[in-house]
Amino acid sequence: MAELGHEVLGVDVDSAKLTKLEAGEVPFYEPGLEEVLRRNIAAGRLRFTSSYEEAAAFADVHFLGVGTPQKKGEFAADLTYVDAVITTLAPLITGPAVIFGKSTVPVGTAQRLGVLARELSPAGEDLEVAWNPEFLREGFAVQDTLHPDRLVLGVDRDRPGRAEDVAREVYSTLIEDDIPFLVTDVATAELVKTSANAFLATKISFINAISEVCEAAGADVTVLADAIGHDARIGRRFLNAGVGFGGGCLPKDIRAFMARAGELGADQALTFLREVDNINMRRRTRMVELAREACGSLLGARVAVLGAAFKPDSDDVRDSPALNVAGQIQLQGAAVTVYDPKAMENSRALFPTLGYAQTAFDACEGADVVLVLTEWPEFRKLQPADLDAVVRKRVLIDGRNCLDPQQWRDEGWTYRGLGRP
Ligand code: UDX
Repeated sequence: MAELGHEVLGVDVDSAKLTKLEAGEVPFYEPGLEEVLRRNIAAGRLRFTSSYEEAAAFADVHFLGVGTPQKKGEFAADLTYVDAVITTLAPLITGPAVIFGKSTVPVGTAQRLGVLARELSPAGEDLEVAWNPEFLREGFAVQDTLHPDRLVLGVDRDRPGRAEDVAREVYSTLIEDDIPFLVTDVATAELVKTSANAFLATKISFINAISEVCEAAGADVTVLADAIGHDARIGRRFLNAGVGFGGGCLPKDIRAFMARAGELGADQALTFLREVDNINMRRRTRMVELAREACGSLLGARVAVLGAAFKPDSDDVRDSPALNVAGQIQLQGAAVTVYDPKAMENSRALFPTLGYAQTAFDACEGADVVLVLTEWPEFRKLQPADLDAVVRKRVLIDGRNCLDPQQWRDEGWTYRGLGRP
């Protein structure tokens, strides 16, 4: 928002994060974000605070972007943090204002929060809640925010207010750039986001299911994906078979979507997402099996895991297939050493008992098998000769199908991919 030229005050309850942000440091890894942060702090357009009072006094446009994690022990989304923002902020707003929700929420949430906000705020009907879902990908957050595919805004059709005009003003530079701006009712806007993520998850699980068949038939899923991807109706993107999807969004979003559909009496419509989830989780089990096959037994084996983040260009390890596989293999008695270019600190915090190495080569020291589980550029560039001297056995399992099988085989390695002969 500051980069678009607005005066911005960022609010968080985590004082450690605020201290970092104020010093121009991003508390997680995201390419290009630090420069944007520093530039806008220096320009005086961006400040941070823990004070909701200050936020309410400062702004008449509020963006709500807190997390909606999966509830412990159930599929539904935990809306505690979203609700807390409204119950804390709304009573402090005294004049006309709009709260734009960005968090991924179950359909119906915006409507409920609108009622709650109007009840709690001295501004009453002058406080509007609209929904403006976020489609950014980690690793491309800056690009996706400043040049999104589309802007979606859900407004309360029963209370035509200022939300649409305010959004058009906030996003004017993007709208002038001809980025499609779609205005809907709030329920549709909420569902656009969950459907988009459900579709992406389904696309990945589709190719991973086909990869199981390819494996059984001795076919190559990567070539198959290239071939079907040429059909513009299908498209090649999100057809990379491997250890599957993870992260803070797709897994929990499809589960919350199923839970919400159930509450609405439409559970049958989304039972296929249960299978999407199953196919995805089965990839992790398959990876563990392949590692076991490679080692004979995992007990006492030495396993190198290259990659811990749920995808490259991120230090996010939430529901990461890579770390999950590493953990499962360790539980079965192997000594596992992990290396990731950016996610070491987060991995240690989540899985303190795994072994960690400073470089990819150190991780492969004495390994019986090398697993590539996140397709970081530095792993794609690995040459068999680089690892020849350090590993105990020249066996590599490519969990992201990101290396050239022929090259590794030509140099005397046993190469296995997922869904490839
Ligand atoms: C996702 C959506 O893409 C984004 O639009 C939404 O706003 C948030 O959720 P993100 O979680 O950053 O973004 O990751 P994404 O790029 O979608 O990848 C998700 C997972 O799928 C990763 O673990 C990735 O490795 C995996 N993936 C992706 C595949 O296994 N195969 C693919 O072809 C693509």
